[in-house]
Amino acid sequence: MKRQPHLFFILFFVIALTGYFAFNENSKADGKQPTYISQEFEILEKQQTENLIQPIPESLPLNSQKVILGEKLFADKNLSATKTISCSSCHNLALGGTDQKAVSTGIHNRLGTINAPTVFNSGFNFVQFWDGRAPDLATQAVSPLFNENEMGNTNWESIISYLNKDNEYRTLFQNAYASPATPKALLDSLSEYQKSLITPNSKLDQYLKGDHSALNTLELEGYQLFINRGCISCHQGINMGGNLYQKAGVFKELSTTKTGDWDGRYKITKNIQDKGVFKVPSLRNIELTAPYFHDGSAKTLKAAVESMAKSQLGTELTEQESYKIVTFLKALTGEYKKHPL
Ligand code: HEC
Ligand code: HEC
Repeated sequence: MKRQPHLFFILFFVIALTGYFAFNENSKADGKQPTYISQEFEILEKQQTENLIQPIPESLPLNSQKVILGEKLFADKNLSATKTISCSSCHNLALGGTDQKAVSTGIHNRLGTINAPTVFNSGFNFVQFWDGRAPDLATQAVSPLFNENEMGNTNWESIISYLNKDNEYRTLFQNAYASPATPKALLDSLSEYQKSLITPNSKLDQYLKGDHSALNTLELEGYQLFINRGCISCHQGINMGGNLYQKAGVFKELSTTKTGDWDGRYKITKNIQDKGVFKVPSLRNIELTAPYFHDGSAKTLKAAVESMAKSQLGTELTEQESYKIVTFLKALTGEYKKHPL
């Protein structure tokens, strides 16, 4: 229930804004210059969006020893029961932090039931997983290690004894935690490493930080549509998502196939109103992480954007509008360690 007043507050803004645009649309007939769009946008940006979308920070204060250890653990297939699957198998940094599949493949080629979200910027999400069942990254990491469709371990002992037999790991754990490997230290270092997976400096971030030439006209028009059509009422914060729960399919079912896992928050709360309610996903680096939605049912960004308009906002976008929004969304691709993703 906590999220509702917040959403209404934002929707109110969006509606007020739409009225503002309509008003100015009329005044154009009275001989106003076309520059009104940029002026309006300036105002709108100041008043409404400044606090809704924030740029990704350039760096975060993290413990570098823990990050180094976490990086090695994240890529280590020996942490799975069959020694064939690592965290990176499904969260490949070269593929936008995902596997770019509708559902993931774990040990013994077992298929999962839900789309793998990116690990980039996951530290900014208010909870982890589509249904928010993990409060933080350290808690989250237990799940893949022991999930029978993912890394398939059945006990901590085999993982910990492998780590403590390895000279390099013994040194790394000693450096980071002044102790041998423990489950707590392993989870903490995976968490610290994932917090380092931030992608600052997208065109939008440069724009938000004051470089108004960072977005071209098409991207700006897409941004404007993103705001005044109401996408921003759900996709906001540093991650442009990841800070609210919302229903997938407010006005119309998001998917007609209904394959995949549609319980969402219901699984945790057992409240029937939470069926189909998910953590709103981040739109950062979104051009790199197709297919989209928790069931991977949207194959392209264009398809995802057009479904969103219909299902979440009860409106249709013209070809031009959807093209502009997609162009804007491509301006959300950032840099990892100063290299474009
Ligand atoms: C076999 C594929 C697979 C492996 C291996 C795997 N993951 Fe995932 N990961 C997923 C899927 C699928 C989800 C979404 C599950 C859900 O929401 O119920 C997920 C979700 C996550 C999330 C939540 C992101 C968000 O936005 O909610 C994080 C963080 C994450 N994984 C980190 C890890 C780490 C760390 C490891 C290694 C210990 C790991 N994953 C191993 C497939 C995998
Ligand atoms: C009422 C809240 C809400 C509004 C408004 C909304 N979205 Fe979403 N968006 C969601 C939710 C919830 C999901 C996850 C749906 C799912 O996975 O089944 C999502 C998913 C997406 C995805 C796919 C992300 C991924 O990683 O799979 C894109 C792209 C997207 N939204 C873009 C938009 C755009 C563009 C608009 C405006 C036209 C918009 N959204 C409006 C809540 C919203």
